[in-house]
Amino acid sequence: MYTMDELKRFCQRCRKCRLAQTRTNVVFGEGNEQAQLMFVGEGPGYNEDMQGRPFVGKAGQLLDKMIGAINMDRKDVYIANIVKCRPPENRNPTEDESGACIDYLRWQVRLIQPKIIVCLGSVSAKKLIDPELSISRQRGSFVKKGDIYFMPTFHPSYLLRNESAKKEAWEDFKNVAAKLKELNSLDKEANKAW
Ligand code: URA
Ligand code: SF4
Repeated sequence: MYTMDELKRFCQRCRKCRLAQTRTNVVFGEGNEQAQLMFVGEGPGYNEDMQGRPFVGKAGQLLDKMIGAINMDRKDVYIANIVKCRPPENRNPTEDESGACIDYLRWQVRLIQPKIIVCLGSVSAKKLIDPELSISRQRGSFVKKGDIYFMPTFHPSYLLRNESAKKEAWEDFKNVAAKLKELNSLDKEANKAW
């Protein structure tokens, strides 16, 4: 088992796919390593590539607001992406790029052991939940895999272009907060029983 710091060090030197050639910085991901809630986007954009941090541009500011709206803080959660290096012109990562990178995310999830993973947008939801998933039809419902509940929802960049979808995203976030509360009260019950 690697520690998060070891994993980060490997990742920062990674040249497993062609995105290594054009990146400025690897964007490993950041946040609370004991988080119950994790957000997974698609890949770094311009600002993320420049700063080496996930979701720091316009979409990131919206994500921060949405996290705040469920009474949480960016420091309470963990934020990562499917690919850790920026795809040129913000194109979607290819199958071979996400395939090369996904093990880093799998290790992050194993170390953090979140209760819920929110998949931000189609690339993330398809990779983590179901390759056939349709965000417009399947957003908002939890899919349980192993011990983790996955919630597909709109990507904040999509919400910036489609104001009207914010209403649905807000429903999704409220449901995530309610699910966390429910899971934590179940844990409490179980502890009492023991
Ligand atoms: N969009 C993403 O999918 N991830 C980021 O980190 C920033 C924007
Ligand atoms: Fe390595 Fe992932 Fe970057 Fe590709 S995107 S070079 S697999 S860290």
